[in-house]
Amino acid sequence: MTDRLTILGIESSCDDTAAAVLRVEDGAELLSSVVSGQTDLHEAYGGVVPEIAARAHAERLDLMVEQAVEQAGVTLAEIDVIAVTAGPGLIGGVLSGVMCAKGLAMGLGVPLVGVNHLAGHALTPRLTDGVGFPYLMLLVSGGHCQFLRVDGPDDFTRLGGTIDDAPGEAFDKVAKLLGLPQPGGPVVEQAAAKGDPKRFPLPRPLLDRDGCDMSFSGLKTAVLRTRDGLVADQGGLHEQDRADLCASFQAAVRDVLAEKSRRALAGQPDLTCFAVAGGVAANQTLRAALEDVASVHGVPFLAPPLRLCTDNAAMIAWAGWEAYRAGQRDGMDLSARPRWPLDRTSPALIGSGKKGAKA
Ligand code: KG4
Ligand code: ZN
Repeated sequence: MTDRLTILGIESSCDDTAAAVLRVEDGAELLSSVVSGQTDLHEAYGGVVPEIAARAHAERLDLMVEQAVEQAGVTLAEIDVIAVTAGPGLIGGVLSGVMCAKGLAMGLGVPLVGVNHLAGHALTPRLTDGVGFPYLMLLVSGGHCQFLRVDGPDDFTRLGGTIDDAPGEAFDKVAKLLGLPQPGGPVVEQAAAKGDPKRFPLPRPLLDRDGCDMSFSGLKTAVLRTRDGLVADQGGLHEQDRADLCASFQAAVRDVLAEKSRRALAGQPDLTCFAVAGGVAANQTLRAALEDVASVHGVPFLAPPLRLCTDNAAMIAWAGWEAYRAGQRDGMDLSARPRWPLDRTSPALIGSGKKGAKA
């Protein structure tokens, strides 16, 4: 009798089709994690087109599963549990993944576990660093922005989040209005490195309001107005104007995230660490500011490797295992959920990013 379990994770809630194989025995070992992105398919439309995403997931899921199993050096017959993102996300994509997982679970005769995509992100520091509860998680991506206190694999308290755009979305929009390519985050960061963060006094929204809620939509509009002002005055934008605008915008996001993180950490002396996840966590300026905040509070700062910070199936396999270990089993009636707040007591008031589906 062995306690060794091999878990296949499946993710398809937005624009990444992913599969991963995780082995848990005494510890956890990630045997494989493959992701097929769809940026090229949606590029021309300026955003993710749900129907195109769903079709691409349906076409690629079996390939990703095949690749993940092959790279892990196992066979499908060795899979003990299937974990799949059952929401929140774009419903067509989530459905594709859930249907694929149901077929596999039924065919192989193994248990099926439906996973909340946000729980996948929030539990990642346990997969990568084995952190104990409770800890604070800041999820910052193209579609989500929220502070979560994590007390257990199914025990999340949302301390606050964005009431409009997510930071990644704001980075993308700022890039677009400055004529820079997508995704905006990395190019805005690059341009900002050559700019003066003090040249344009952009707003720090909601800092005057108590609590951890944030807003990034007005900041983006302020960048637009500043750009229009410059264009009206000088007939266009110089390279240096772009760099200064990017730096000023990034500094505003940094100040908001840092101050709200300070507030989220305040009064919580029992935390094991402050962790971040999501594509925006790749930003070095933001990361350094958050690291400083953690250090002042006296907790370790943790940013998992980027490939596990952005959408992937390894986190779904891990979260699935945590749920399985706690006794969760889902049947063929597992449904796909477009909305699925992690914190049942205080769900998002307006939204956690307008796009909603990304995390
Ligand atoms: O987590 P992620 O890969 O995907 C989802 O949102 O699902 O995050 C992507 C977002 C994009 O909006 C992208 O512009 C942003 O993360 N991003 C960054 C950086 N790299 C990616 N934002 C700021 N600075 C970066 N270096
Ligand atoms: Zn995500």
